[in-house]
Amino acid sequence: MLPHTLSEITGPLYGHEKIGEKDNDLTVQHGGEPLGERIIVSGRVLDGNGRPVPSALIEIWQANSAGRYRHSNDQHPAPLDPNFSGAGRTLTDQNGAYRFITIKPGAYPWSNHYNAWRPAHIHFSVFGRAFLTRLVTQMYFPGDPLFAYDPIFQSIPDERARERLISKFDLETTKPQWAKSFRFDIVLRGPEETPFET
Ligand SMILES: [Fe+2]
Repeated sequence: MLPHTLSEITGPLYGHEKIGEKDNDLTVQHGGEPLGERIIVSGRVLDGNGRPVPSALIEIWQANSAGRYRHSNDQHPAPLDPNFSGAGRTLTDQNGAYRFITIKPGAYPWSNHYNAWRPAHIHFSVFGRAFLTRLVTQMYFPGDPLFAYDPIFQSIPDERARERLISKFDLETTKPQWAKSFRFDIVLRGPEETPFET
């Protein structure tokens, strides 16, 4: 068992109120712009037959660009960003597609073992239409040198399954002069299933 910190296993507590206009843009939720590298994260939610899953509620939570969570359990010496809460949510459309605008999270240290650092990641939660099922996973960024040292990433034994957690840089959906883009598809079941946390 890996001793997960609270921020690893709990998402934002949104309740059931209607999704707001700014909920999928984590860079406009406060008075100013958050610091860091602006990115677009988009993809699709697919079932085991490759069919899109519409109206799935996706929630994300993440550290800021300095690698700090806005959470009382995260007291490591990196600055909080007054313009960044690190939480967002959206619904998939009829094609199963979703899109977030956010800031690339920083890597952060944790106390699992000496000199332990988590590779940069965004936590994802996907709710089925009826709120009966919730799947939780983490999205990583390509080429992170910390993959080899991270027991959470390495706890997935199958290398191909691990690779499905790594988003792909996507020049297509990049917005010129404004933001880079990463694609992350979530497959709910089947041989190409995204690894989920239990
Ligand atoms: Fe985390």
